Amino acid sequence: MFTPAFSSDAMLGRKSLMPTVNPDKAGNPIKHPAAKAPRIFADSATRADIEPLFRAGIINGITTNPSLLKKAGARSWDQAKTIMRDLCALLKPHPVSLELTELAEEAMVRQASELAELGDNAVIKVPIGGYRAVNPSADPFTGLKVIRRLWERGIKVNTTLIFNTTQALWAANAGAIYVSPFLGRLADYAYKNDKPARPPGNSLYWIEDRAGEGGEQNAHNSEYVAAGGPVKDAGVRLIFEIATVFANYQITSEILAASIRTPVQLTECLLAGADILTVPAKVLQTVADHPLSDAGMKAFSEDAKAFGK
Ligand code: E4P
Repeated sequence: MFTPAFSSDAMLGRKSLMPTVNPDKAGNPIKHPAAKAPRIFADSATRADIEPLFRAGIINGITTNPSLLKKAGARSWDQAKTIMRDLCALLKPHPVSLELTELAEEAMVRQASELAELGDNAVIKVPIGGYRAVNPSADPFTGLKVIRRLWERGIKVNTTLIFNTTQALWAANAGAIYVSPFLGRLADYAYKNDKPARPPGNSLYWIEDRAGEGGEQNAHNSEYVAAGGPVKDAGVRLIFEIATVFANYQITSEILAASIRTPVQLTECLLAGADILTVPAKVLQTVADHPLSDAGMKAFSEDAKAFGK
């Protein structure tokens, strides 16, 4: 179990450098009690899902990607841009992450400017790696070069497709204001490929890839030391590691925990020190619910009838 005592001075110091999420409004006599709360974004490009969450004050940002835009109905680049522009206008001034689809450095920088024009609140999503998976002769550092060039131009970047701590560090060094570890995909992968009989001591998310040599691809598990117990969620451990490294070096790039599947992962990310959580709408729709809240409400409503309410 995490306890408040677990938070190191370095973590608290870093938090004090982070943006205020709930600023006090002028004239409000009560100081906001959650000024440094984590931000919650909707991981969606579908306006019908996003709007009610935004109006209810549940979210203050959005993350999109090509898969989410396809799901939202985009069938051409123009349609995708129309959806992205509309979402930027809806959320203004809160951040909306828009992902690059180009894969070569110059084209990516050009496309980043095109997307940045869709709204002042646009944040450009740049994949950290994977370029050679699409084009074997691609430069593996394409993403990092683009991030640095966008930082030099004052364009805000969210680095996406992060699966280990060092990727997060390089992204921050290049100038990304958000780093997005995909904890759900990592946890899915680790649960599926876990080989618990392997020697201990490896990071949970360590992936041995021998597929190219005709071998197999394995993920190795160890204890989730941060929680002090054998919690096998590789994704949450990744969040904890990045939060610790960023605290050690007072890095203020925000840790945007992505690819969240369940309310339990959501809670564990908060315990692990995430700054922002991007959550699918269907998970967000349940956050105010609990079976015991239902039972309690029924009993209170019933008893209130005793005094005519
Ligand atoms: C983050 O920005 C991504 O859009 C997202 O969280 C990916 O989640 P998935 O693994 O559910 O596709």
